[in-house]
Amino acid sequence: MAIFSDDDDKQKSFKLSSKEKSENLDTKEIAFDKSFENNIRPRKLDEYIGQSALKSTLKISIEASKKRNKQIDHMLFYGPPGLGKTTLASVIANELDTKIRITSAPALERPRDIIGILMSLKNGEILFIDEIHRLNKVTEEILYPAMEDFFLDMTTGKAQTVKTLRVPLPKFTLIGATTKAGALSGPLRDRFGIIHKLEFYTKEELTDVVSRTAKILEIEIDKEGAQIIASRSRGTPRIANRLVKRVSDYAIVKSNGKITKEIAADALKALHIDESGLDSTDRALMSLIIEKYDGGPVGIETIAAALGEDAKTIEDVYEPYLLQEGYIQRTPRGRKISPEGYRLLGYKTSSAQQSLF
Ligand SMILES: Nc1ncnc2c1ncn2[C@@H]1O[C@H](COP(=O)(O)OP(=O)(O)O)[C@@H](O)[C@H]1O
Ligand SMILES: [Mg+2]
Repeated sequence: MAIFSDDDDKQKSFKLSSKEKSENLDTKEIAFDKSFENNIRPRKLDEYIGQSALKSTLKISIEASKKRNKQIDHMLFYGPPGLGKTTLASVIANELDTKIRITSAPALERPRDIIGILMSLKNGEILFIDEIHRLNKVTEEILYPAMEDFFLDMTTGKAQTVKTLRVPLPKFTLIGATTKAGALSGPLRDRFGIIHKLEFYTKEELTDVVSRTAKILEIEIDKEGAQIIASRSRGTPRIANRLVKRVSDYAIVKSNGKITKEIAADALKALHIDESGLDSTDRALMSLIIEKYDGGPVGIETIAAALGEDAKTIEDVYEPYLLQEGYIQRTPRGRKISPEGYRLLGYKTSSAQQSLF
């Protein structure tokens, strides 16, 4: 393991610069180009790649809702950013041939924000609330009777003369999305009929995402080129789409515009995206555990503090992919790096780790 001479140095080497953070955000959180996003976003369930368990559940709910002519159950989608939660909500609206109103919890600050939206909806319409774990208590309490029985409890008058008025609402469907299902309050979670986790995509599914996106953008790409991009997209369609565009730019500048295996490999090398597709936070997190904690186990709070990130973000955004790929492991005493994790980062397994595996 690497030995550091002074504590400050250790901190410095793992803290992400604000530039790195914003680059990661760019990858994971922010639509980098709205019109590009809109063009490539699937509109129908059949165009929506992967998530097959979730899709079959949804197909039945959609059919049933149409046959009964009744609004579809409230739904909660959770999972890391870029896996298709927002996309799925609009696909459902399309399939039901209804309107979707898209908002996010931070935009619902005052009671009148949510009340205004609820009252403007029509029967069967969908209200999509992103980052739903961030709703404030008051807004949440307005939503309880709205979701359950479709009415608002309004109070009028003051002190002795106060009266509660029940205002009926249209039969709407709430679709909530969150990266942090654990941060949702129990009463809110209980009001969703369907709660579904979005999974990371397989290499094959991402190859389909890449090929589909390339086709829409009229980018020439062969199967092997698509496979290379897919395998470096961290299981995430948003990253795959972003890479298609970047690699295509490279292909235009350096060659004839066609993405082949060689062009894809060269472009990704130039973009500093290695074979695993991990980003700078993933690497910083793993190097930290290896170098400073001899491979772990180390508590999530400690990792978060050293990286200058919040523990929940590490748990909900960065860690799931590393766990799924088996680079890190969760133990009762914290996180530790697996032999694959060591290998991936080019470290020799530490003596402590060897005896554990
Ligand atoms: N299942 C899918 N099939 C094809 N493309 C997808 C799929 N899921 C997501 N995408 C693409 O990935 C991007 C990110 O999806 P989004 O719904 O914004 O993710 P989230 O809301 O979970 O952060 C979108 O531009 C969309 O085109
Ligand atoms: Mg989203």
